[in-house]
Amino acid sequence: MITDRQLKEKWFNFFEEHGFKKIEGFSIIPENDPTVLFTTAGMHPLVPYLLGEKHPAGEKIYDVQRCIRTNDIDSVGDGSHLTFFEMLGNWTLGKCNKTEMIKMSFDFLTNPKYLGLDKDKLAVTVFAGNDVAPRDDEAYNAWKECGIKEIFFTSEDNWWALGGGIGPCGPDSEMFYDTGKEKCCESCSPSCGCGKYLEIWNDVFMQYVVRQAGEKAEKLGRPNIDTGMGLERTVAILNGEKNVYASGCLKRVIDFINANAKIKYLDNEIATKSYRIIADHLRSSTFILGDARGVVPSNVGQGYILRRFIRRSINCARNIGFDSQLFAGIVDLYVDEYGQDYSDIKANRQFIKDEMLKEVAKFSKAIEEGHKEFEKVINGIERHKEFALKTGENVENIISGKAAFRLYDTFGFPLELTEELAKERGYQVDKLGFEQMFKEHQEKSRQATAGMFKGGLADTSKQSAYLHTATHLLLAGLQKMFGKDVVQKGSNITPERLRFDFNLDHKMTAEELKEVEDFVNNAISRELDVTCDVMSIEDARNSGAHGTFTNKYGEEVKVYTIGDVSKEICGGPHAENTRQLHHFKIIKEESSSSGIRRIKAILD
Ligand code: ALA
Repeated sequence: MITDRQLKEKWFNFFEEHGFKKIEGFSIIPENDPTVLFTTAGMHPLVPYLLGEKHPAGEKIYDVQRCIRTNDIDSVGDGSHLTFFEMLGNWTLGKCNKTEMIKMSFDFLTNPKYLGLDKDKLAVTVFAGNDVAPRDDEAYNAWKECGIKEIFFTSEDNWWALGGGIGPCGPDSEMFYDTGKEKCCESCSPSCGCGKYLEIWNDVFMQYVVRQAGEKAEKLGRPNIDTGMGLERTVAILNGEKNVYASGCLKRVIDFINANAKIKYLDNEIATKSYRIIADHLRSSTFILGDARGVVPSNVGQGYILRRFIRRSINCARNIGFDSQLFAGIVDLYVDEYGQDYSDIKANRQFIKDEMLKEVAKFSKAIEEGHKEFEKVINGIERHKEFALKTGENVENIISGKAAFRLYDTFGFPLELTEELAKERGYQVDKLGFEQMFKEHQEKSRQATAGMFKGGLADTSKQSAYLHTATHLLLAGLQKMFGKDVVQKGSNITPERLRFDFNLDHKMTAEELKEVEDFVNNAISRELDVTCDVMSIEDARNSGAHGTFTNKYGEEVKVYTIGDVSKEICGGPHAENTRQLHHFKIIKEESSSSGIRRIKAILD
């Protein structure tokens, strides 16, 4: 039996032996990055380095990264898909020796000193070529030399890019373990997704970059290697298990639910799926709520996803006769497990439980009424269908946007939950109709709902870098006015605006806002150079650099200096000169939470 920790240690030892340096994983909620709501892969926070910036820890690095992906959310409940997982990652920056990486991967997987997997149960996929890049013969030959027999070619499945499609990308080679399941058909392969082959590791050869939406990938001057192994899946395989819920912490959570629910695990398909969804979604929720950024359930952005996770779990708990108040016990199990590695989860244990139970209280009141309403809607359509038999009218199994909106607005059913319930009954939801209703409602009530339906959000444009520089200037201005005790409490940037949270005991006056705006615009008009130096944390501190994110990169940090105005420890990226910012304008100053103010500003 191998544990998560033991696998992590094997990974650490292997890459240390190969001259890689460990870096800390990043927050689950990306900072200053509008392209995604969550950190979806270990490479995500490393984009500037994959595009050529120097990493303080050098050119060979590894880590373990907590990730949340919502694209697989509908598959959660099977044996292998999760919304939260830990990814073991390693990177070679500025060099792309495929043969060397593939041989290293093979060694880690099969060498008895490490994972000792049977090479005949491994299958791999290799990029087949398209109009951007040729067939990856080097990868193919390397696997062949390792003695891998099952090598499959695809083009689409073997191209790795970030969710929004912008940024570093390239062909990859994925490693699968044959679970021993019968082939589903003659052409059964890792691409058919029947469950015979389980993906455990991906070597991405980041030789290309897409710089703007809609543009073709171009070759990167300095290519990289980015690899990521799924921790939970690999542990399951090493333990000879068929699914990720059969060992470790996920199993402890399933056991806890089983001891307290009326309908037992594996009793039937719906029950099994419900158990697994609760275990998965509440782990994601624990990590989101536990993050230092302080996200709570809401109707926008990360808060909306969090709400979906919790409300879907409440619905699943209803399916199996499990009291949602006991979600707090599940949080405890996760905090006990992960608190050691992730101090924010540990520090926020009570906050996580309180916020989760608040959400439970909110939705539990409405869920029974909502289900009644849902039944009424279905009955109405069924009656309509009976009647239509006589008239010859065609009635489809579609829940109207209006009905879905009522379920959302009055009973708190996230659209996706209504869609899921509908699907179980052979129905669909008029999603466009829902969105239309939603917009009308939004216009009427002027709610802040930006971003709710945006998947990829926006691009990693220069504008974001400029807003990031403006954020540093803003903090410098606030500190000049209110003293050095004012620090960053949160930051979020979209290509349109920056949002900055900081501690202050009063609402800023119009005069104060004008003064800070002038301060930033003065720095812009002085055309100050933005420079970056890499130094030890100690040197950074001695140089007077300001920073709330120390130790993130281990020994060395980057310090961004904006003329004589600002010096901050920060990962970048930034403008080269403040003139690129043109003009800074504050559009809103409001309370964020007790003692915390929030400024929204634009560059125009
Ligand atoms: N970035 C690659 C992945 O997530 C390793 O699969």
